[in-house]
Amino acid sequence: MRSVKRCLNAGFILIAVAAFLSQAFTATSVAVPASNCYALDNSSRLLDFSDWIGETFVYDGKDADIVIRFCKDVESRSQAGYVDFGRFDKFNYFVAGSGPVDLVQEFYNGDLLNCESTFDKMGRTAQVNIICGNCLNGQCKGRQGCICNVTYESTCRAIVELAIPCEKPGLRVFEGFTVGFHPRSWEIVYNGMTQLGFEKPHHDFSFSTEQPHVTLYLTAIASLANLVQKPVVKVFPENELEVKLLGTGATGKPPTTLSPSTLLVDWRCLKAQNTPYEVNISIPVEGYAPVEFFLTKMCEYTQNQEGDATRGWATFGIISCIFMVLSTLFCCGGFIYKTRVEQQHGIDALPGMTILSACLETVSGAEGQGYSRAEGQGYSRAEGQGYRRAEDLNTAFGNEVSWERPPAPAAAAAQGTWTPSQRTYGSM
Ligand SMILES: *[C@@H]1O[C@H](CO)[C@@H](O)[C@H](O)[C@H]1NC(C)=O
Ligand SMILES: *[C@@H]1O[C@H](CO)[C@@H](O)[C@H](O)[C@H]1NC(C)=O
Ligand SMILES: *[C@@H]1O[C@H](CO)[C@@H](O)[C@H](O)[C@H]1NC(C)=O
Repeated sequence: MRSVKRCLNAGFILIAVAAFLSQAFTATSVAVPASNCYALDNSSRLLDFSDWIGETFVYDGKDADIVIRFCKDVESRSQAGYVDFGRFDKFNYFVAGSGPVDLVQEFYNGDLLNCESTFDKMGRTAQVNIICGNCLNGQCKGRQGCICNVTYESTCRAIVELAIPCEKPGLRVFEGFTVGFHPRSWEIVYNGMTQLGFEKPHHDFSFSTEQPHVTLYLTAIASLANLVQKPVVKVFPENELEVKLLGTGATGKPPTTLSPSTLLVDWRCLKAQNTPYEVNISIPVEGYAPVEFFLTKMCEYTQNQEGDATRGWATFGIISCIFMVLSTLFCCGGFIYKTRVEQQHGIDALPGMTILSACLETVSGAEGQGYSRAEGQGYSRAEGQGYRRAEDLNTAFGNEVSWERPPAPAAAAAQGTWTPSQRTYGSM
């Protein structure tokens, strides 16, 4: 029985691994290439020339040969020696061209000798215009690329025309789009390309179990911002890490460079496991490849759903307790005040007793009950004769005589009609 279970478990693990692998190898988004030797063509498609780095092209000139080492440098070679015409280093030195030129590469910081006055002391520089396919003059057909033409703008600058069979254009990159952990940073996505470390799940850089959420900031070029759509989140393994996307970024509000939209990733561990959960966040962009990146989240223990509810009840309990203590204090304080200052005693000295009696009076629909209560004792003493006397006085009420009576019996007279309820109160 146990071995069957083990076998089943192993089977499930295999299926899970297979599912993971098949997921991992279907690239639908654009990760930044491993090298800086890439460019975006005139329709934002990625051309990755990483395999071409260092590829050498030589052009036989009259005085000097020109040698291009792809994505590295340009130099002229002659009897006098090598002269450096610039080096390739930054990614924005490789851009889309115009007209017959598909791409342009810039090379800066070559030999300074006799070129000291060039802009920013950049020395000799070169520009390589790349044509995908064959040279315009039909030279070097059918070969693995060649230099078509070299012209010197000055002794300090060379313009070289290079024909190569270009790479097949890749996915369309949503240029200018960034995602970062701060409003002005772009660790996760830069220029529409997912940066290394976020292009696939990396288990070494997981968010800890304790971290309840992470805020991401999205920016886009204002004129293209409305192409950004609602992000979609997928977790692997499924259903065991609850992930909610909140914030302006979650609703698909167009992010701009000036006002980044925020994407709050709120997560809670429903099940603990040894390896981190993989969170795939995909932001669809109309007409472009979706922007996709991975975050990983550790779940060393389970964060139960009742966590918040428990906290709520705890708060309620504390507030109730404070309320009770305050009530007791006020009650005692009031009692002491009334007994000492107002010289009242017993039940009368209890704070709120006047209010309570006023309430009772309202409920029983009478006027002046507060007063009658004070007279209650006296009246109940005279209980036996109460009715009769009340009646007498009632009849006497019609006469002017009653007004000359002392206040206490007069009050009893005024209340004569509802004596039974009065008696009830007196017997309390
Ligand atoms: C990530 O999620 C998106 C959208 O849900 C999906 O299309 C894509 O295939 C997923 N990527 C991986 C590598 O699982
Ligand atoms: C991009 O360049 C290709 C030739 O390389 C050209 O046919 C196409 O019209 C250009 N597209 C735009 C939008 O400039
Ligand atoms: C060489 O390039 C220059 C300028 O880039 C151009 O005027 C000239 O026609 C080109 N020559 C050939 C043979 O292609």
